[in-house]
Amino acid sequence: MGEPRLARPLRRQEGEDISFAARLLGWYDRHRRRLPWRALPGESVDPYRVWLSEIMLQQTTVKAVGPYFDAFTRRWPGVADLAASPVEEVMKAWAGLGYYSRARNLHACAIAVAERHGGRFPDTEAGLRALPGIGDYTAAAVAAIAFGRPAAVVDGNVERVMTRHEAIDTPLPAAKKLVRARLADLLDPDRPGDFAQGLMDLGATICTPKRPACSLCPLEGSCAARAAGTQEAYPVKAPKRAGAVRRGAAFVILGPDGALLVRTRPPKGLLGGMTEVPGTDWSAGFDVSKAAPPLPVTRIERLPGIVSHTFTHFPLELTVFRGRLARGEAKGDFRWIAPADIAGEAFPTVMRKVLAHAGIGMEIGSGQAGP
Ligand code: ADE
Repeated sequence: MGEPRLARPLRRQEGEDISFAARLLGWYDRHRRRLPWRALPGESVDPYRVWLSEIMLQQTTVKAVGPYFDAFTRRWPGVADLAASPVEEVMKAWAGLGYYSRARNLHACAIAVAERHGGRFPDTEAGLRALPGIGDYTAAAVAAIAFGRPAAVVDGNVERVMTRHEAIDTPLPAAKKLVRARLADLLDPDRPGDFAQGLMDLGATICTPKRPACSLCPLEGSCAARAAGTQEAYPVKAPKRAGAVRRGAAFVILGPDGALLVRTRPPKGLLGGMTEVPGTDWSAGFDVSKAAPPLPVTRIERLPGIVSHTFTHFPLELTVFRGRLARGEAKGDFRWIAPADIAGEAFPTVMRKVLAHAGIGMEIGSGQAGP
């Protein structure tokens, strides 16, 4: 990719920048979303809650995060509580949010804060970035929201608002750098957390991907895309190269008492440390006629249809088989879980789909979006 191109110069006239922040903050004061991790005006911000919410929000929507955030903060009210919990419990509570390496890092980060920082989060972007699982985005978000640091916070919503406002036609992800530079000029150093969350809320509620409600937007008067009528053309995205479809088989194997045969995936890599039913490798060249369960199962049947799931870098299609096995015959990595424990097990979404396909219901976490 060449040098990022700008439709207009980054800097505008003195004075206009102040009014950008003032208009945004005025709107935010009236229309901010009430979210469980946000302090109300006059309340003090809890860095633990800000950090936890930001990690969760990297996974999924504000709406989907709500119940997880409540469950985590009820069970682990502070960072020391989370640090003291067995990692397996954290993984289980995370199940359904996806990207399980994040849950592992979340726990590692809590331990680092508890042990290396006396239970207090570092209050600078650089200090935060040095912690496990905290990248540029989260460091900026926590520094701005929890500690009032003038950090440029760029998530998907902010990218959309800013590429429209500035008519930045450089494709993402290269445009991110331009957005960050522009924000560094525009943000209000007295209220950087509200400034960041104001842009997020604007992107979520007004400056939406389709049919943005420009007439309600506090930035309408200075928005370059609005002036040109090209709002929906931004942000420009580099074409995505989707991975090839991978296929495989999953075996839902029950014991005589309804127990389910499972194993734990290796700690590193895709869905690391999560629970799965036995299965084949997932590959582009998978041949279902050669699929065989890894144990001598009696009465195996192939279920009609397939389970589809899209990971960030490839789509997956699984053929599901259902079979039976005598209790004593779980060998190697395999173990049985009782029917009552299935709902609380750390199954990733793809496995929840497999179980649902095989007629095994569970209440917790079903229906959640997640990789
Ligand atoms: N998305 C990521 N962080 C957020 C926040 N603090 N408020 C609203 N949406 C968000």
